[in-house]
Amino acid sequence: MFKKLLCIFIVLFAWLNMATQPVFARDVSLANNQILLTPTHGGDGSAWGQSNCINCHVLRNIHKTVPAIKGIVQDVGYRSCTGCHGQNGTNVQRECIVCHNSERLPKSPLQHAEKNHNFTVKQDAPLTDENCIICHDHSDMDKKFEPAVDLTHFKGVGLDLPYQNNSEFCLRCHNEDHQPVGFAMKPRFLRDPLVMMEKNYRFIDMHGYPEGSGQRTYSGLRSHYQYPSVVDCTDCHAMHGTHNTKLIVDRTDAGMKQLKAGLRLQPVLINVPLNGDYSQLCVTCHQMSDIVEQGDEDTGNGLSGVHQVSSDCRVCHVHGMAAQTGL
Ligand code: HEC
Ligand code: HEC
Ligand code: HEC
Ligand code: HEC
Ligand code: HEC
Ligand code: HEC
Ligand code: HEC
Ligand code: HEC
Repeated sequence: MFKKLLCIFIVLFAWLNMATQPVFARDVSLANNQILLTPTHGGDGSAWGQSNCINCHVLRNIHKTVPAIKGIVQDVGYRSCTGCHGQNGTNVQRECIVCHNSERLPKSPLQHAEKNHNFTVKQDAPLTDENCIICHDHSDMDKKFEPAVDLTHFKGVGLDLPYQNNSEFCLRCHNEDHQPVGFAMKPRFLRDPLVMMEKNYRFIDMHGYPEGSGQRTYSGLRSHYQYPSVVDCTDCHAMHGTHNTKLIVDRTDAGMKQLKAGLRLQPVLINVPLNGDYSQLCVTCHQMSDIVEQGDEDTGNGLSGVHQVSSDCRVCHVHGMAAQTGL
């Protein structure tokens, strides 16, 4: 009898003790934009350096506050943990494609075609987990894409502020004189955009910081269009998949985030032939208000409103071209 009472007492004591223990200050939280584990893991650091998450965490008990991922993590299981929470001081591989593939998350991101930003111009190899992590080392996967949270922070020169937009991220590498270690790029020809984009975007390109007049012969923007005058690199270049060379986006829903949903999600298809006829790209945003030249000619994707349709636009419109009206 006494033994039984003691037993109950011990259990009760253990339970009380657990309930009154101070709650560990959690490093991981969406509220703090912090998802990678740190050396304090386990409260006192005792769990840092451990690779078998299964030893201490029960799948069905975690992620109660993050419904967007609870189901998929439960489904994929323990191999997914380090993808989001980092290596925990071990050298376990971090996996992304185990979830971000055409079956589980076919639209997030769209990886429908063979060309992508795999860090080599020469090869069209599929993206690897390592590629993903170069660009997104600590995404919080909250279904909202925020450049400052979801894109890897590469140190800038001077004031090192969080990114306001995707372009600032691209320019940390695509510049002449401060490319990050490991991402040195050599110009292939004079004024190669690979290294000149920072200058182009800041000082020359009409889609970058220089303001257009909006008063030209062919001016006018599509009404589905809600851009500020600065256009992001990712409005024209797709990072995850396109069939076009130079990573020109091949469908509006693979980029062009600021096009109104109606047109964007339709989607409008964009084919850029090798002869440099970019009209299907330009026409998704541009639509001349006073129709002249080929202004009423279908560019081939159902939209019209640009001039010179089916000619080589590069003679007059490329990055860094100050004469004519450039890009
Ligand atoms: C898709 C990304 C993702 C994956 C994969 C993932 N987690 Fe999480 N996890 C999160 C996020 C986001 C939070 C923060 C939740 C919050 O702020 O409330 C979190 C929080 C946690 C927490 C603390 C709070 C809670 O919700 O329980 C634990 C423990 C945890 N994760 C363990 C794991 C383990 C173990 C795995 C592998 C089975 C795993 N996580 C896989 C995104 C992920
Ligand atoms: C030895 C046990 C142990 C192992 C192994 C372990 N954890 Fe933990 N983990 C803990 C404890 C204890 C906590 C703190 C509990 C709490 O706050 O609810 C914790 C908390 C967390 C949190 C919340 C953030 C924080 O720092 O408090 C996450 C996320 C997490 N663990 C993920 C993982 C992942 C991923 C793995 C595998 C790589 C793993 N854990 C392996 C014991 C462990
Ligand atoms: C971490 C550095 C880094 C970041 C960040 C980066 N790039 Fe690149 N980019 C590269 C490297 C390296 C190459 C390949 C250069 C080579 O092969 O010579 C490349 C190639 C390219 C190419 C040519 C690809 C091809 O196949 O023709 C384009 C276009 C491009 N990047 C655009 C972008 C855009 C847009 C962003 C931002 C959304 C961006 N890059 C972010 C490093 C980076
Ligand atoms: C060169 C850098 C780069 C690489 C490599 C890269 N991404 Fe992205 N990713 C971006 C940028 C920039 C955006 C924002 C795109 C936008 O706003 O149009 C983005 C957006 C996303 C989104 C949000 C949905 C969407 O389509 O906008 C997801 C999910 C995503 N990336 C996952 C991945 C995964 C998974 C990989 C590896 C298979 C990967 N990314 C590789 C730069 C990259
Ligand atoms: C357990 C599955 C899982 C794993 C593993 C995983 N993700 Fe995600 N991720 C998600 C889900 C679910 C979303 C929300 C997608 C949606 O519906 O928009 C997401 C969203 C994203 C986004 C979009 C931005 C945001 O905050 O929602 C990016 C970028 C991203 N993941 C990158 C990665 C990278 C890089 C890795 C590997 C380091 C990775 N993910 C590993 C499930 C996963
Ligand atoms: C994602 C939408 C988008 C795409 C795609 C696009 N543009 Fe633009 N374009 C704009 C916006 C926005 C402006 C700025 C208008 C302003 O500043 O008044 C602009 C401005 C211009 C200007 C300068 C106009 C002026 O008033 O000085 C030229 C020239 C131009 N674009 C040509 C092109 C060409 C050529 C293409 C195709 C290769 C193209 N654009 C593709 C959105 C786009
Ligand atoms: C021979 C040179 C030349 C060629 C080739 C050329 N353009 Fe232009 N483009 C111009 C000039 C010059 C202007 C500005 C006219 C002005 O100043 O009023 C212009 C303006 C534009 C604008 C208007 C931007 C705005 O809001 O004012 C768009 C869009 C455009 N071009 C698209 C194209 C497309 C698409 C092609 C290829 C199919 C192309 N251009 C080929 C010279 C050219
Ligand atoms: C309005 C659409 C548009 C925007 C915005 C834009 N680009 Fe481009 N980009 C193009 C077009 C069209 C080409 C091909 C013509 C040329 O070579 O200049 C190109 C070419 C490139 C190339 C050369 C690719 C190769 O393989 O030769 C790089 C690198 C590049 N862009 C990077 C960027 C970066 C980085 C940004 C943002 C800072 C950006 N672009 C913004 C349309 C755009």
